[in-house]
Amino acid sequence: MSFVIAIDGPAGAGKSTIAKAVSKKLNSIYVDTGAMYRSIALFMIRNNVSKEDTASIAAKCKDADVTINYEGGVQNVILNGENVNGLIRTEEVGNMASVVSAVPEVRAHLLQLQRNLAASTDVVMDGRDIGTTVLPDANLKVYLTASSKVRAKRRYDELTAKGESCDIDIIEKDIIDRDHRDMTREISPLKQADDAILVDSSDMTIEEVENKIIELANAAGK
Ligand code: DC
Repeated sequence: MSFVIAIDGPAGAGKSTIAKAVSKKLNSIYVDTGAMYRSIALFMIRNNVSKEDTASIAAKCKDADVTINYEGGVQNVILNGENVNGLIRTEEVGNMASVVSAVPEVRAHLLQLQRNLAASTDVVMDGRDIGTTVLPDANLKVYLTASSKVRAKRRYDELTAKGESCDIDIIEKDIIDRDHRDMTREISPLKQADDAILVDSSDMTIEEVENKIIELANAAGK
């Protein structure tokens, strides 16, 4: 039986940083489901599909073959045979990902892939609906959040460190808009599963959050 940890929460809460670190410590595979939605978003952008054209997003997602492989413990997302890891971390793709992820056909397209990944190996999977929909029987469910101000500041620091100029107020507005879209969509909205443990990282360091989740995993039988 594999040991499965589901980490859900809003954009910028630190899910991927934490999930990556925890998976390393626990010898598990890290599965970043947001990257899968981002690769579908990239596919739609490349095909000039507009955000409003839900019918085309639903129809065309079948042509986006998404698979995952691992190289030195790093997850590669393969879109129609191409490794798109280096192309999906932009704000444009992130915003489009939030739009495509509200389309039921897109979610159905990715669900089985996500379930298969957790079927035979220990995984730490992060996303928005992992504890509620994808892996409802996960051994541990964490809902990781932080205030929108703190999340915007983290994103701002990340972008300025890369030499990109940006406006922190616009970043915070984008975060609030994305939260709203993710939490209010009809299918698999972002919400804390009834049996998930809430971790608010606003005033915690990365190490503190990591230790907290390892502690919870141990308590859950890992
Ligand atoms: O975690 P992220 O920023 O890479 O996710 C990009 C978008 O994908 C996000 O706005 C919501 C969507 N998403 C989702 O709906 N379900 C998931 N399991 C993961 C991401």
